[in-house]
Amino acid sequence: MIKVAINGFGRIGRILARIILQNKHFELIAINDIYDIYMMDYLLKHDSIYGNFKTKNTIKMTSCADITKLDWSGVDILFECSGIYTKEDELKYHLKNGAKKVILSTYSNELPMFIMGFNEEKYNNENIISSCSCTANCVVPVLSIIDKHIGIQKCNITTIHSYTSEQNLLDNKNTDIRRSRSATQNIIPLSSNVANASTYFLPHLKGKLSANSIRIPVGNGVLIDLHIKISQKSKLSHIKKILNKNINKNIVKISKNFIVSTDVKGIKYSSIIDENSIHLVQDDFLQLLLWQDNEYGYAQKVEQMAELMKEYL
Ligand SMILES: NC(=O)c1ccc[n+]([C@@H]2O[C@H](COP(=O)([O-])OP(=O)(O)OC[C@H]3O[C@@H](n4cnc5c(N)ncnc54)[C@H](OP(=O)(O)O)[C@@H]3O)[C@@H](O)[C@H]2O)c1
Repeated sequence: MIKVAINGFGRIGRILARIILQNKHFELIAINDIYDIYMMDYLLKHDSIYGNFKTKNTIKMTSCADITKLDWSGVDILFECSGIYTKEDELKYHLKNGAKKVILSTYSNELPMFIMGFNEEKYNNENIISSCSCTANCVVPVLSIIDKHIGIQKCNITTIHSYTSEQNLLDNKNTDIRRSRSATQNIIPLSSNVANASTYFLPHLKGKLSANSIRIPVGNGVLIDLHIKISQKSKLSHIKKILNKNINKNIVKISKNFIVSTDVKGIKYSSIIDENSIHLVQDDFLQLLLWQDNEYGYAQKVEQMAELMKEYL
């Protein structure tokens, strides 16, 4: 049994815990956050999006803000989900404190990054890696197919994203000016790193991608709107055929259903292509809509990365 632990028990940490607790290869032995243990236990068992959850497992829970002081002895794989520590020098403390491998649950330009269904087979026993962002996991497996089989001249990416914990319920001070505004009352434009993240995986597209994030008053789900100037004139039927033929069907799904955001809750795919919303303007300007459960869909990919890494322990 592979022993795992979680640092940062927020949305991603808790969804990951639920997934891990149902995986017979893993034993979740420790969780750390900065809030009290009673609250951690309560929030693991009650979730307004995913419902109630029961576990009989005994898990050591601690409340410590100092990454240098955490005890990870006996931990094979540590999931770093606090969103606070993304630098390699910081994450090395987890190794120093006993963990054998570390997976960061966000983008980091200092670490090797892996996206399931795109480059996970390149994993080569690195000790600290990143699973990149939810939006890059959604975009890259699809964008790479268009890029390889048709060609991309340029692309705008708009991520229409449910609100997250770092936004405010009502207007209140925040380090980011627009994050200060009420998440439940507003459509809020924010910056997005998905263009940068995507060019890590598709480096020849550097300078050809741009991205915005639009936060909306919805608690779960992401819809990504891609506007792509393709390199050669094509037909919609040809593009659909290429997507159908080349997607990794464990990671990307093409859906003919008339999906809305609540329909993707608890869905494992990194990306669901909305077939009813594919458009082609004058044979070379393509629009695609992609859906994802930014919490469960992403956390499941982090778990799959851990499944792969456990073979190297
Ligand atoms: N939510 C998503 O859709 C999503 C998807 C993919 C990736 N991610 C990434 O995953 C990471 C976590 O996101 P999240 O949405 O789960 O955030 P979250 O709900 O805010 O969870 C982060 C948790 O870590 C805690 N924390 C803060 N400082 C800490 C410290 N020094 N040591 C241990 N725990 C600490 C936070 O406590 P406080 O709340 O008290 O600060 C919070 O409970 C972020 O990097 C995010 O970009 C998020």
